[in-house]
Amino acid sequence: MAEKKLWGGRFEAGLEKWVEEFGASISFDQKMAEFDIKGSLAHVTMLGETGIIPQKEADTIKKGLEELLVAYQSGELTFDVSNEDIHMNIESLLTEKIGSVAGKLHTARSRNDQVATDMHLYLKAKLGEVLEKLAHLRSVLLALAEEHVETIMPGYTHLQHAQPISFGHHLMAYYNMFTRDSERFTFNLKHTDLSPLGAAALAGTTFPIDRQRTSDLMGFAAPYSNSLDAVSDRDFILEFLANSSILMMHMSRICEEIISWCSQEFRFVTLSDTFSTGSSIMPQKKNPDMAELIRGKSGRVYGNLFGLLTVMKSLPLAYNKDLQEDKEGMFDTAETITVAIDILAGMLTSMTVHKEHMAASTEKDFSNATELADYLASKGLPFRQAHEIVGKLVLECSKAGHYLQDIPLARYKEVSDLIDADIYETLSSKTAVERRHSLGGTGFDQVSWQIKQAKQDL
Ligand code: ARG
Repeated sequence: MAEKKLWGGRFEAGLEKWVEEFGASISFDQKMAEFDIKGSLAHVTMLGETGIIPQKEADTIKKGLEELLVAYQSGELTFDVSNEDIHMNIESLLTEKIGSVAGKLHTARSRNDQVATDMHLYLKAKLGEVLEKLAHLRSVLLALAEEHVETIMPGYTHLQHAQPISFGHHLMAYYNMFTRDSERFTFNLKHTDLSPLGAAALAGTTFPIDRQRTSDLMGFAAPYSNSLDAVSDRDFILEFLANSSILMMHMSRICEEIISWCSQEFRFVTLSDTFSTGSSIMPQKKNPDMAELIRGKSGRVYGNLFGLLTVMKSLPLAYNKDLQEDKEGMFDTAETITVAIDILAGMLTSMTVHKEHMAASTEKDFSNATELADYLASKGLPFRQAHEIVGKLVLECSKAGHYLQDIPLARYKEVSDLIDADIYETLSSKTAVERRHSLGGTGFDQVSWQIKQAKQDL
């Protein structure tokens, strides 16, 4: 039989060890130790100020908690699975330190509002970190885009050469995705920046607590307005997991492109050695493992979202022990995305872009077919007819083994007298990109305009 529990009063028998281990969360919720102590510090400060417990006792508890915080930070605290979770471990360590007065700390509080408070504090801190890292990633993309406004690459649809574009334009598309991610995490902060403390078990308390004070002390924007919601809401975590899933999807997309770009077939970029690995058997290999891992890790991040959605589905109000399953996925996602953002930023900063090769790969293809059709349409031919004519020319070229720019002017004249010698200039990739002045298009002026806007926002 195990030792006496903090909640042991109404029990005659203790838990068996293996059952106790099944119910315990200390192996993972110890990640919130600092936040748990900080929450307790706010709570006891308020208990003393409101006279709910004598100020002297509040001071003793505070001092004990502060010492525990220092001990934790210097790695001196050890936790015990028989104390189940971080909350009871801290309370029991406090009792060892200051004696039975520690038992007054839990006045007007439950582990239900306590654990929710810890999670809000943890995620609020993590969101700040994520936003900072995303701002860095965005600035890396912006700098790279600025460097490559006039770098020509093939633009794809269906992974087939479609129309030539500016590499800077391509990068700015990702910049926009990560900007939206930042906006989503910023909104997420609004729902995270609330204090559940004082909701107690579910119904509030008869003690004259000051929830606004504890909320202020912990730096939250406001206390939750409904005690049931305060202890049972995990939307702020779900939002984080959903936002992280979208972020990972974006990172996975750019990583997939990087992986293709550094293959022999593309040869658009070379990753730095720092972000590549070799093979244990094939001496020539230089693999984009880090990009592949980011792509792969999107799986666990999506999984964490679905895990928690499933935990939450059908949960009656208010607290249920199922909610203890909210933590590992959140920690794992937070740790995964923060490092993945850094890796991606590092990979982009240090990779070499082979711009000549990128541009050259638009020379031997039909990605200028739209230019020829647009040329005819701009001279008054209905676009449908122009499309048909160019389609036939593409077929003719494919059979002859050359490209639109290789067709002699005489042949063009046979096809349509609307075509003049300036067609060759029109067909060049650079002209094709440069002339796309429509708002948000790949024209150099438009890409520079996007970059200018983005710089102002960042
Ligand atoms: N370890 C628990 C959790 O993470 C803390 C709250 C326990 N509350 C309870 N009534 N059993 O959810």
